[in-house]
Amino acid sequence: MASMMFTDCSSISSSLLHVNGRRGAILFRHCVGQLRLRSTASARGCSISIRCSSSPSSATSIDGKAVAKTIRDEITVDVSRMKESIGVVPGLAVILVGDRKDSATYVRNKKKACESVGIKSLEVRLAEDCSEEQVLKSISCFNDDPSIHGILVQLPLPSHMDEQNILNAVSIEKDVDGFHPLNIGRLAMRGREPLFVPCTPKGCIELLHRYNVEIKGKRAVVIGRSNIVGMPAALLLQREDATVSIIHSRTKNPEEITREADIIIAAVGQPNMVRGSWIKPGAVIIDVGINPVDDPNAPRGYRLVGDVCYEEACQIASAITPVPGGVGPMTIAMLLSNTLISAKRIHNFE
Ligand code: GUN
Repeated sequence: MASMMFTDCSSISSSLLHVNGRRGAILFRHCVGQLRLRSTASARGCSISIRCSSSPSSATSIDGKAVAKTIRDEITVDVSRMKESIGVVPGLAVILVGDRKDSATYVRNKKKACESVGIKSLEVRLAEDCSEEQVLKSISCFNDDPSIHGILVQLPLPSHMDEQNILNAVSIEKDVDGFHPLNIGRLAMRGREPLFVPCTPKGCIELLHRYNVEIKGKRAVVIGRSNIVGMPAALLLQREDATVSIIHSRTKNPEEITREADIIIAAVGQPNMVRGSWIKPGAVIIDVGINPVDDPNAPRGYRLVGDVCYEEACQIASAITPVPGGVGPMTIAMLLSNTLISAKRIHNFE
């Protein structure tokens, strides 16, 4: 797993002075960053400011692990209420093709999370060299199974399969991943509502909401344009009235554009790519990256880092998600939430 080059930004604090030939980062550190936050429920109409001071690690840590636990607790209550009232247990079917270790771990974690909230989970494992028809047959069975309310095909699929065909086959009513083109299309259109929103981007927005970060009218930058995270994250931010820029591999001046952002969602899969000099003082950062980097001092010989250099960013941003413990746990919590939403909708249960 720890196949990446060791990429560290914690041991280069002196280079903060000269990132890309600039002296900007040291200036940032002494700036006061302000971010207006939406009112909390108990203080509606007010707004508060988070200030970033010159002390190290001054950014608020956006605790995805804690938020995800709260959401799981809320879901547990609703699942048992549903079971008691109408005798229905929400059911999730997961299809895993091939033997990628990372995919197997994700699926195991999803199943464990289902158990923890009382959602029934079913798993179908298919061999790496199985045919596309076999996958389509499993999907078709679950589409017709009334005890199943959500279907998830773990990605990526083996290269001989047509991902589009397979995702198109999932019933839009059970598409808890939100990857069906009809759901994505509705997400992109004004005045239309998707039945489901993809889990990781939904988790990112949920974190912003639960930390009362104002999105409306803010400049947001999404780094990465994947179908799973970057693209739907940008659509969601736009639906919340942010002004959104998307940065991708061909963007000429990513650092300059990112430095304009009040909100940054980084989902590019490059360890520590976003440096302190990229960040506007007071910005809020959601780091989706989970990148293993070699670390001989870590018990497993590697550690996980985000797409954002946390050590630099936390001195400049007003709030930031840690890696691990930020977005990761939220993805699974949103999958459970989507499965519950689906079961409620199918059974007309409020
Ligand atoms: N692979 C990586 N992330 C995801 C996800 O959110 N859903 C599915 N189905 N596969 C993934």
